[in-house]
Amino acid sequence: MNILVIGSGGREHTLVWKIAQSPKTDRLYALPGNPGMADKAMCVDGIEITDNQAIVDFAQQHHIDLVVVGPEVPLTNGLVDAVEAAGIRAFGPSQAAAQIEGSKSFSKELMKKYHIPTAKYEVFTEAEKAKAYIRQEGAPIVIKADGLAAGKGVVVAMTETEALAAITDIMEDKEFGTAGSRVVIEEFMAGEEASLLCFTDGQTICPMISSQDHKRAYDGDKGPNTGGMGTYAPAPVMTEALLQETYDKILLPVIKAMSQEGKTYKGCLYAGLMITADGPKVVEFNARFGDPETQVVLPLLESDLVEIMTACCDGTLAAQQIDWSKGAAVCVVMAAGGYPRAYRKGDKIKGLAEARAAGSLVFHAGTAQKGADIVTNGGRVLGVVAKADNVRAAVDKAYQGAAMISFKDAFYRKDIAHRALNR
Ligand code: AMP
Ligand code: GLY
Repeated sequence: MNILVIGSGGREHTLVWKIAQSPKTDRLYALPGNPGMADKAMCVDGIEITDNQAIVDFAQQHHIDLVVVGPEVPLTNGLVDAVEAAGIRAFGPSQAAAQIEGSKSFSKELMKKYHIPTAKYEVFTEAEKAKAYIRQEGAPIVIKADGLAAGKGVVVAMTETEALAAITDIMEDKEFGTAGSRVVIEEFMAGEEASLLCFTDGQTICPMISSQDHKRAYDGDKGPNTGGMGTYAPAPVMTEALLQETYDKILLPVIKAMSQEGKTYKGCLYAGLMITADGPKVVEFNARFGDPETQVVLPLLESDLVEIMTACCDGTLAAQQIDWSKGAAVCVVMAAGGYPRAYRKGDKIKGLAEARAAGSLVFHAGTAQKGADIVTNGGRVLGVVAKADNVRAAVDKAYQGAAMISFKDAFYRKDIAHRALNR
């Protein structure tokens, strides 16, 4: 099969790496791709990931059999619909189904209607009413911009003052643009978080190995929220019993609900969970693979990813065998100084080959080729991943890899997987 992966981050590098291992893969393209994947995929320049027609034209010209859509923006922009309309398989949800991520109010209303456990919430379009609600409910309380905000449109406010300031920033000062013209205000849920990425064909849903992300920028879960500073899998908090409960109360019900709403969901569904004293509750759904969860989940997948993706597109997932490695994987994200706020680009990255030679997988997230050099080109620059028999060994190996890599003002968290290690 000829396969086209859409996107340019660490998640897409990992997808390309895994797809390239399949005997079913003939030619592999990445649009736009990044320098890390250039040894496995042909990177396609000059087409925007939001230009559905140009992508369909490319796919037709290059006899693509499967388009795999990485990021949320092309999904909510209807790329899967456009590709399928041209008679080509696409892995990912339709535009209508991608609303589960694209609109927090849609997904909260869906969960309320179908009794899927999640935090209590209200939706506001007027700042004054939002502030009155905050004064009534008190803190801690959680404020979320309704639309897409690259994982950064959420404020977990521990005080009322902080919550009121968040309304000013999001609704009045439009910190996230139009994504903030509606906000969801939620009850604060206490507990440990876990991510559960799932394969689904719209009827059958198969959770992948569980993982845990570290969303705060600094050690000890301090500092601003980011797209994710590191991950590990599996997450010991997700016991077999909790997995079963999540499947029964959340995963199967949400897939049935989407189908009942006429928005059949296929592709990867990401359930962000809070394991509370009352059991697992949904923090959010995403319409795609997690980043950087994918970087630790796919290295533990022993089955052929192309076969599974094809089964998701064709509605035959129930017949698909999916095997996972018994080991653990850890990803340390190396970020550019300043991230998630302003950061520099264009700094030379050294030590990539050395880290790989020492046994790490190095997934590029924000890099560019500049002459013979690889340079920084994003906030999250690299994901250094190691796989081992257990989390302790994987942590040590990933940090050894990260220590071999350097660029100006690089920083990374030193405590990835602390919750698993402290158990
Ligand atoms: P989201 O983008 O909805 O995943 O939110 C980003 C992060 O904010 C989550 O990963 C949680 O750490 C935190 N968060 C979101 N909603 C809640 C909630 N209702 N209670 C506690 N923490 C939350
Ligand atoms: N790592 C969080 C996300 O992909 O949304």
